Amino acid sequence: MLNVVILAAGMGKRMQSALPKVLHPIAGKPMLMHVVEAARQLEPSRIVVVAGHGAEQLQQYLAGQTDIHVVLQQPQQGTGHAVMQAEPALLGEHPDDTTLVLYGDVPLVQSDTLKALLAARQDGLAILTEFLDDPTGYGRIVRNAQGTISRIVEHKDATDAEHQIREVNTGIMAAPTVRLRDWLSRIDNKNAQGEYYLTDVVGLAVADGVAVNAAHPSFPWETLGVNSRVQQAQLERAWQAEQARRLLEQGVSIMDPSRFDVRGSLQCGRDVYIDVGCVFEGDVVLGDGVRVGPHCVLKNVQLGAGTVVHAFSHLDQSRTAELASIGPYARLRPGAVLERGAAVGNFVEVKNSTLGADTKASHLSYLGDAQIGERVNIGAGTITCNYDGVNKYRTIIEDDAFIGSDSQLVAPVRVGRGATIGAGTTLTRDAPDAELTLSRTPQSTISNWKRPVKK
Ligand code: UD1
Ligand code: CA
Repeated sequence: MLNVVILAAGMGKRMQSALPKVLHPIAGKPMLMHVVEAARQLEPSRIVVVAGHGAEQLQQYLAGQTDIHVVLQQPQQGTGHAVMQAEPALLGEHPDDTTLVLYGDVPLVQSDTLKALLAARQDGLAILTEFLDDPTGYGRIVRNAQGTISRIVEHKDATDAEHQIREVNTGIMAAPTVRLRDWLSRIDNKNAQGEYYLTDVVGLAVADGVAVNAAHPSFPWETLGVNSRVQQAQLERAWQAEQARRLLEQGVSIMDPSRFDVRGSLQCGRDVYIDVGCVFEGDVVLGDGVRVGPHCVLKNVQLGAGTVVHAFSHLDQSRTAELASIGPYARLRPGAVLERGAAVGNFVEVKNSTLGADTKASHLSYLGDAQIGERVNIGAGTITCNYDGVNKYRTIIEDDAFIGSDSQLVAPVRVGRGATIGAGTTLTRDAPDAELTLSRTPQSTISNWKRPVKK
C-alpha cells in the first residue's frame, strides 16, 4: 500500500503574493497539481496534502479532488512536524507498505524518478539525492567509510567538513510506513532551527539497522524548488524547453524552442511546423502537416491534416477538418468548425458556426450562430446579426450561396441553395434558392448640386 504525503504548509513569503505558493502555476497549472499528477501515476492508496499558510484557499481549490486528503499543520515546526500531521491519515500495517514524501513547491519531479526511488527502497528507506556544484543551503548526505548513508545534516547544523559534501538531500523520500510512524515519534527539535526535521529519520533508520539507499533524478530541473518569482520563471523556461525538446525529438519543427509555450497538452502528427511565439493551452491536437504561423494562440483546438494557421490568429474551442486555412489575424471562438478546405481570412470572427467544405470568408466578417454549407462565398464585411439584445438566433446559408460584400443577415434567416445576395443587402427575410436577392436604395444623382461654403 502506498501513501503519498505532499508538504505544502510553507509560507512562500518571497513570492509576495496573496495566493498560496503551491497554487502558483508552472505551464498554466498550479505547482501542487503537477506534484499530484506525478503522484497519481503511482496509483497510491492515499494522497495527503499538508496545508498551513493559505490552508483555506488550498482546501477550496482541492474541494473537487475526492482522492486528496488535506490535513492542517498549525504552526509550521519543520518538515518532520509536517509529516506527523499526516501520520493519522496514513494507511498500511504491513512492512512493505510505503509512504512517499513530496514537496508541493518542487513541481516537476517525474513519475519515472519516483518509481526508481520506490524501487530503491527495497525493505528499507530510500532518499532522492543529487550532486550539486554549489550545495549551499541544502541538507548534506553523510556517508561512512564504506560509502553507505549514515545520516543527513542540515546546512545550518553542519561542520565545515560537512559543508564540503556535494551530495544533497532533495527532500523527497520513500519510507516504510510502519517504521516511519515510530521514527516520527522519536525525532526532536534540538537543532539550529528549533524544528522537527524529517531528515532525522535517516539517522534513526541507520541506528535501527534499516538500510538507507539513494536514488537520483534523471533531469536537474526535476528537483528544483520554487521560493520566488525568479525561480518560478526559471523553472517555467526549463519546463517549456523540455516540452519543446520532447516534441522536436518526435519530429515536430519548432522554429525557436525558447519562444514556445505549452500550457496543457499538445499532440502533433507528422511534419507539423510551429513558428515563433505561439501559446498552446488546454488540449491541442494538430494533424499531419499542420502549420502554425508566428504569434498564434490555440486553446482546446483540433486541426485536421494540412490546416494552415497564419500569423496572429486566436483559436479557442474550435476544430477544423483537413486543409483549412485561418488568418492572418483571424479569431475562432468556441464552437467554430471549419470543414475540409474552408478558409477564414483577416479580421474574420467566427463563433458557434460551421463553415462547410471549401467555403470562404476572406475578409472582415462576423459569423455567429451560423450554419453555412459548402462552396459558399462570404463577401467582405458580411455580418450575421444574431443577437437582438436579448436572444440569439441562427443564420442558415445553403450550399453554393454567394453573399455580396457588406451585407447584414438579420437572424433568424435562411439563404437558399445557390442564392446570390447583392452587395450591401440588409437581409431580413429568407432568400430563395438560385435567385438574386438584394435590398438597395436605387442610386440617384442630383445634378447642379453644390457643396456648402463657409459663411
Ligand atoms: C529541506 C530539507 C533539506 C533539503 C531541502 C531541499 C529538512 C529538515 N530539510 O530543507 O535537507 O536539502 O529541503 O529543498 O527536511 N514545509 C511544511 N511545513 C513545515 C516546513 C516545511 O509543510 O513546517 C514544507 C514547505 O512548504 C516546503 C517543504 O516542506 O514545501 C520544504 O521546506 P523548506 O523550509 O523549504 O525546507 P528546507 O529548510 O529548505
Ligand atoms: Ca526551513
